[in-house]
Amino acid sequence: MTKRLVVGNWKMNGVTASLGEIAGMDALAGVDLWVAPPFTLVGGAVAVARDGVRIGGQDCHHAVSGAHTGCISAAMLADLGAAFVIVGHSERRSDQGETDAEVRAKVLAARAAGLDVIVCVGESEAQRDAGTAEAVVDGQLGGSLPGTADGLVIAYEPVWAIGTGRTPSSAEVSAMHSFIRTRLLALFGAAGQGIAILYGGSVKPDNAAVLLGQADVGGALVGGASLTAASFLAIAAAANPSPG
Ligand code: PGA
Repeated sequence: MTKRLVVGNWKMNGVTASLGEIAGMDALAGVDLWVAPPFTLVGGAVAVARDGVRIGGQDCHHAVSGAHTGCISAAMLADLGAAFVIVGHSERRSDQGETDAEVRAKVLAARAAGLDVIVCVGESEAQRDAGTAEAVVDGQLGGSLPGTADGLVIAYEPVWAIGTGRTPSSAEVSAMHSFIRTRLLALFGAAGQGIAILYGGSVKPDNAAVLLGQADVGGALVGGASLTAASFLAIAAAANPSPG
């Protein structure tokens, strides 16, 4: 069985004192652990993270440098020792109005800087109710992904499940993940098989085993429950395909 990938997205949470949580995260044999703290903590997190725990950013600008007040480039993240970046999170798509084309430009910038990149996709509740969830995700994949599969991870995060405590059923998760796999194979050929597809949205220690047990779920993108080492590691343990 391939290794699982469990990624923590701290969003706009955490101050210097929170680095102790990252220092307390320990890699497991069957699970890769990645954590994306806010930009202000990336350098400190790289310094305290144990072997096997990779640190990344939650977003990047598509340009390497320039007159973009308040923005951070992928090259800057790489310079701090970050290994990956999350792009296209639904909170950025809604709060900052990011389009698929912008997300794609960020993916290209991240790859050019040598970062692995997690591309988030997912439908709103209205879109799911209207029966258009697959079409929405298909459009996001087609518009956001680059031409090659190298360094890519996909995170399927239904918007209505993020931070709400609600999750899709196992059948809905496995149907969407196998749909995404089919699309990745169409876009990238055999290389599409190697792209991990994470599930995100209200993943907690007590539901992780079921959500991550579905076919084509390669791991989890975790928000609230990644803020402490204890709950993040409990999720990682539940995700571990080869305990002991
Ligand atoms: P949540 O967030 O786990 O708090 O629902 C997930 C995410 O937005 O990545």
